[in-house]
Amino acid sequence: MIRKKGNVYKIDTPNTSLVLSTERGVAEVLYYGKLLKAPFEPAAVTDDLSHCRKVFSETGKTDFREPQLRIELSDGSVATDFVLSRIKRGERPSMGDLPASYGEGETLRLEFFDEYARLRYYLAYTVYPDTDVICVTSEIVNCGKKSVRIQKAASLQLDLAGEGFTVVTYDGSWGAERQRHEHTLVAGVFVNESNAGSSSPFHNPFLMLKREGEVYATNLVYSGNHRETVETNSFLQTRLLTGISDVGFCWEVLPGESFVTPEAVMVYAPDEDGVACQMHAFVSEHVIRGKWKRKERPVLYNNWEGTTFAFTREKILSLADRAALMGAELFVLDDGWFGHRDDDHSSLGDWFDYEAKTGGIASLADAIRAKGLKFGIWVEPEMISEDSELFAKHPEFAMKPLRKAGTKMRNQLLLNLADKQVQNYVVRAVSHVIQETKAAYVKWDYNRFFTDPYGKGIASGEYCHRYMLGLYSVLSRLVEKFPSVLFESCASGGGRYDPGMLCFMPQTWASDNTDARERYRIQQGTLQAYPKSTMGAHVSASPNQQSGFLSTLETRFNVASAGVLGYELDLAELTDEELSLIQRQIEFYQANRELLQFGTYYRLDERSGLGGFITVSPDRTKAIAVITANERVTGRGGYAYTLKGLDPSVTYSVTTREQQGYEGTESFLASGETLMNAPLYRPDIMGDRENRFNSIFSRMLVLKKVSMR
Ligand code: GLA
Repeated sequence: MIRKKGNVYKIDTPNTSLVLSTERGVAEVLYYGKLLKAPFEPAAVTDDLSHCRKVFSETGKTDFREPQLRIELSDGSVATDFVLSRIKRGERPSMGDLPASYGEGETLRLEFFDEYARLRYYLAYTVYPDTDVICVTSEIVNCGKKSVRIQKAASLQLDLAGEGFTVVTYDGSWGAERQRHEHTLVAGVFVNESNAGSSSPFHNPFLMLKREGEVYATNLVYSGNHRETVETNSFLQTRLLTGISDVGFCWEVLPGESFVTPEAVMVYAPDEDGVACQMHAFVSEHVIRGKWKRKERPVLYNNWEGTTFAFTREKILSLADRAALMGAELFVLDDGWFGHRDDDHSSLGDWFDYEAKTGGIASLADAIRAKGLKFGIWVEPEMISEDSELFAKHPEFAMKPLRKAGTKMRNQLLLNLADKQVQNYVVRAVSHVIQETKAAYVKWDYNRFFTDPYGKGIASGEYCHRYMLGLYSVLSRLVEKFPSVLFESCASGGGRYDPGMLCFMPQTWASDNTDARERYRIQQGTLQAYPKSTMGAHVSASPNQQSGFLSTLETRFNVASAGVLGYELDLAELTDEELSLIQRQIEFYQANRELLQFGTYYRLDERSGLGGFITVSPDRTKAIAVITANERVTGRGGYAYTLKGLDPSVTYSVTTREQQGYEGTESFLASGETLMNAPLYRPDIMGDRENRFNSIFSRMLVLKKVSMR
């Protein structure tokens, strides 16, 4: 709810307040934090006007921290002078080709004008009644007669009073995405950024700033280069900026035109669980859209780790027989079905059937459907192989300077999606694949970074963003054309896991690393920002292909149950016993799917190698917890843990899911209060001696309300 009293605007979400004031002639943030019930008294704020917390900063003033805006005017100067001209409640501004959150909300729009530069700047705050997340968008409009160059336009500036924050970021690489890191801010500028062309596995755009009892988090609805900075100054202030990276960025705005920044989102909560909970609800309700919003996701089988490129029609059909037998609902045919693709050196761009291998892709899809499975297919539409018919015909489609061969990664080049003709080609090619195979699911992969961002006639400072606008336009056309298809985004695993892609594709493959112990870490990092229903999580073979570590089939399932369940291994190698175990796992998952995919997730406290997570139903009558132990210490007798998110006044029955490798199950009654506060001591988490070489151990607990206390 947005309220105005005098020159003070109070933007309330269910649990937080953001208070802005124009009392002193500038738009400043007076307060951001837990919900204030009473109207705000601006007189309580005493800081010096020259160091007040402005809603945005620009160059040419005495604030020497990184600014939100740096715009070069036609006379070569970069000193703008925006003056507040209007504030009004109303519609949220249009986002052009950029994806953004949606829903019935309220918007406060601030308008600034620079008389000399003839530039208008709009800054809009949008809130929805069901989430604490506040969305911020902005637009720079050139009302003058000469063009200007935007050198930097961050989406959000959050100036906080005080210092001593710890920055929490989620960084990594292929196979190790979203590893949590904590950085203590003492002085200077902390930077979290990607200039790889995508949001990247290196540094996710999501981050948190925390201090005792307060956590602020931001994210960006964008999938390209991004930059977040956190800076302290000697006036006991901390500034967070998030937006498109300004490294190499320079955008010309012609007279009468405008530039819209990607939507940024921010949330305040007293603790990290609160942040995760709010971010999940926001993404589920206001980012995920279309048919798959809040809809249960199928259990899939994917052939990649089982066969890689080396499959035949017979092999795929025999895998499909076993996948159907074990209870999977969707069969995904991964890389290798098109062009003459037998390895990763060829065929990207040739999105037509490799008939000698598939025996006819349309009939293969039909044969898989005849076994009671839906059919899904892998594509990597943003890429081109030099060894392809597409490259022979259209070498100019590749993203590379014409004079240069182009730097290859995974032996491939990117397509120049900034070009309309290339965009049309991709829409046509992918539409054809979906129509020919009647695919119910598409895995949209993206397996390299930008090294030569170039498109003929496009200024280098604009290229990377123009690529993103092209990609978003392609995705919105395809999603509109095929509203029932479930799209899962992938980028060599989880290299492009961000709210921008989630606006089009409700699922993301979290990582190519399926080792239970390492995947557990990747998932815990991912789930701090993104809901469970968006996260693809598969059970694969042991020893694991990527790490070589061992884990039991039950622990692999327990870990994968944190997200949208799939299996990805050669099913021919399973014993009958393993197959029946998988059948029981899938039955269990299906019976609890609503809870597991859409329940409220809490990361359990981690200590002494013990950790886990719990998912609680909205009414707190049901919950499923996974307790994990990552280290085995000889002589250590047992493990203690506490749960989260339960109703303290309810008595729950706690039953361990029957798990192969553990003696029997156990069941006991305990109140939510006890389970959440008094450490429960359990001796059995490591299982029997047969499992002694495993790198991670786990047990799953099923909680059901028995009575009120
Ligand atoms: C990427 C994906 C994998 C798989 C392969 C196929 O690495 O992340 O899941 O699809 O490509 O080449």
